Amino acid sequence: MGFQQTLAVREYTVTIPELARNGHGIRIAHISDFHFRRWNKALSEARACLLATTCDLLLVTGDFSDLPQRWRHAADMTRRFFDGVEPRLGTYAVLGNHDKTRLAEQPDMPFRWLRDENVALDLNGTTLHLAGIEQCYGASGDLDATLGGIPDGEPVVLLAHYPSTAFDLAPGQVQLQLSGHTHGGQICLPRLGCVFTNDCIPTRQARGLHRIADTRVHVSAGMGVSGPVPFRYRVGCPAEITLLTLWSGVARPESSASAPGTSHKHRPVMELANPV
Ligand SMILES: [Fe+2]
Repeated sequence: MGFQQTLAVREYTVTIPELARNGHGIRIAHISDFHFRRWNKALSEARACLLATTCDLLLVTGDFSDLPQRWRHAADMTRRFFDGVEPRLGTYAVLGNHDKTRLAEQPDMPFRWLRDENVALDLNGTTLHLAGIEQCYGASGDLDATLGGIPDGEPVVLLAHYPSTAFDLAPGQVQLQLSGHTHGGQICLPRLGCVFTNDCIPTRQARGLHRIADTRVHVSAGMGVSGPVPFRYRVGCPAEITLLTLWSGVARPESSASAPGTSHKHRPVMELANPV
């Protein structure tokens, strides 16, 4: 027990039938819940991993700040962490419940915020809608505004800090939701696993790719820690970066092969999973 691993890099493939052939194989890096305090080894490893990995899109699901009032420090650390990380289709982020809106109002941030809104990404002539709900300190977000204007039947990836947001979605409204908040349980004990998710989902869904209500949800174990001092540690639950490859349904993924273009140099742990 203890800090057995600093960083886990996990991979999943997700089949999305609504995704046109041109979007087949798009690779998303998902990272969450920095709770920035001091720079540490996990942040160095995660940054090195992102710089060495070929991904199309980098998506961040909130909780940059350790405490809401430390938003200036979070902004500085965010600029440092993402400096030079430039995926082909860009980096997008939402706030989490530890973040004040003032963080998203800072200039010169190294990515685009999604604040109860969506954007249409052009994937070689086909469209992937990327939506982000603002579930931050003092606000719970507007799901109708977040998903407004998206044509029926087109693929949507939703960034929502809370995994339980999936309970508010209609079947087929979102093809993949990316969330954080749980920290993977943060403290996971042998045989017992984690005890808390801090959200109304089962502890077995504290991290990983799951179906919650009618939506596929990837729950990131995140990077940082929170909570009162006796529990401000990760135990049996390393910080995490996840690489998600979207398959259009025109071909099944190879069962255990990782998609091309990724360096394994910075991968202390790799986990492959079948599509959910
Ligand atoms: Fe968090």
